Parts: sequence; C-alpha cells; structure tokens
Amino acid sequence: CDAAQSLYARYPFPIGVAINMDELAPDTPYQDIATRQFNGVTPENVFKASYIHPAPGSYDWEQADQLVAFCRAYNKRLHGHPLIWHQQLPRWMENFSGTEQEWEALFREHIQTLCRHFRGRVRSWDVVNEAFAADGTLRHTIWQQHLGSGYLEKAFRYAHEADPTALLFYNEYDLDANPVKRRAVLAWLRSMQQRGVPIHGLGLQTHMSIVHPENTQIAEMLREVQPTGLQLHLSEVDVALNPLGKPIEPTPELLRRQADKLAFLVRAYQELPRAQQYGITFWGISDRNTWIRRYFHRDDYPLLFDDDYQPKPAYCILARP
Ligand code: XIL
Repeated sequence: CDAAQSLYARYPFPIGVAINMDELAPDTPYQDIATRQFNGVTPENVFKASYIHPAPGSYDWEQADQLVAFCRAYNKRLHGHPLIWHQQLPRWMENFSGTEQEWEALFREHIQTLCRHFRGRVRSWDVVNEAFAADGTLRHTIWQQHLGSGYLEKAFRYAHEADPTALLFYNEYDLDANPVKRRAVLAWLRSMQQRGVPIHGLGLQTHMSIVHPENTQIAEMLREVQPTGLQLHLSEVDVALNPLGKPIEPTPELLRRQADKLAFLVRAYQELPRAQQYGITFWGISDRNTWIRRYFHRDDYPLLFDDDYQPKPAYCILARP
C-alpha cells in the first residue's frame, strides 16, 4: 500500500510512537516516518533515570530537550516515560545508601525536577512503571524497599504538586494475559481514586505476539479497565512474530497474522468511549529499530515498517480508509 498518507489522520485519537534519539535526525526515513505518520511521541530511553540523572543532583537534559524541540517543531503530543521504574537506573542510585528520609528526598527530587523541567512541554507522564509482580503483589524494587508500599501514592502526589497541568498515568504490562495482576492493579487504582490521589490514566503496554495474548483476553482486559473511567493508553504496542526465538523469515503468512492481530486490537480499542481514548503508541518505527532484537537477542519483525522503512501489511490494514 501507499505510505505517503498519514496513519494518524485516520483516527480520532493520537497515534504515537516511541522515539529513539540514536535514530532521530533530519532527512532520514526514520524522522520522515515519525513526522508524517504519528502525532504522539514517547521517549524510548532518554527520560529514564540512567540517562537523565547520571550523578547525584546532576541532570543531563541534552537529548531529552532535543526530543522536546522536535515535538514542538512538528506539533506532536509528548508523553513522558517513566518517572519511577526499577530498570535503567544509574549505578549511583541503585547503590545509594541513605536513611529513609534521604531516600524519600532523592525520590521526590527526581520526580519533581523532571516534572518542573518539562512543565508545559510534556502533556502526560507514566509516573510509575511496572510496579506489580505477576502474582499481583507489589514488586520488591529499590523504591518499595526504601520507602515502603506508600511510594506509589507519593509518586503521584509529588508529580501533581510539581506539574498540576500534566495527566498522570500508571503504566503496566501483561494486564491482558494475566487477570490476577490486572485485578490487583484495578483494586489499587480504585483505592487511589477513593483517596483522591491525582491519577488520570492507565497505560497498557500491550507488547504482544501473533499468538499471545489471545483476542478474547484483549477484549476482556478492555472490558474490565473501562469502568475505572480513566484515560486508557495502549502505550507500547508491538507484535512479535517470533516469541520462541527460532530463526524465522517474515513470511507473508506471518505478516498477515500480525496485521490481523493489530487490527483486532485497534478495533476493540475504537469501541471504548471517545473520552477515554488517550491513544495508541507503537514501541518503535521500523523493525530495524525494535527493542526486541536488542533486548532479547533474537530475530523479530514486530513493527509497522520493515527493515527498509517500507510499510508492512500491518501498516496497510491500519491505514485503510
Ligand atoms: C526498552 C527500550 O525500548 C530499550 O531500548 C531499552 O534497552 C530497554 O527498555 N517496557 C517499558 C519500556 O516500559 O521502557 C521498555 O523500553 C520496554 C518494556
């Protein structure tokens, strides 16, 4: 199909993409697709603590601000990701030895420095990322260990205090395939809402494969999260062809199944109330740039554009009028 069109123009909610600052550069197919096809942006890495907070009290804004400038120049909605997570932390933070008060001060400073710096530029934040374990209990992260279970609520309160204009999200994976984890997150969200904690949205990462989760599980997830009334963001969408990591070719058959999987997801999402559709964000531009190859060290083809930045069947099915 013809990729000269614009994917996001087809939808009443933003269609975003994770941008990798190692790839973004003028006059590249990467940037051309980012500007033409997507109207939302999530930083793939450069807002993470190991990048932005490399030493105690010292912040490196350079790449993050380049992305902010890109979003302003091309009028893209910028979703901040993440404020608090247990991965991609700088060594000094992981090894920080302080009293509970000192940990709390560090936690608060990190959140509020980012929120203030990007105030008016970042429309929304993943305030906490992946805080629940598969069995529905709170994950034992440095934050949980040093601040106790109340750190989640504190993160939202601190973020709101520093930027009352930003929409605040909780972001999580596997809420489709794992109903135990989903119900734990939903119970926690309800208690936050009852306590008046400023929380506005739920990010559903939706890293999928052509066989997992099943469509019925996706539908069930959307049905269960909708009554929260929160903004719902499909925040990190991709569809792996090769979850088992065997050598494969992206055959027409596999690419068609990938397209069908995505078409189902998008159709189900479109049935949600418009007021709760925060948007759908893809976790990368082309198969050449996907985190799955780097992170899991396997061959895969999970995105809308192929290794030559050409549109794949998944793109065509979503761009169809
Ligand atoms: C990934 C990035 O895409 C990789 O480049 C990086 O090496 C590791 O993190 N869930 C998240 C994202 O919330 O931040 C992760 O991004 C993918 C899984």
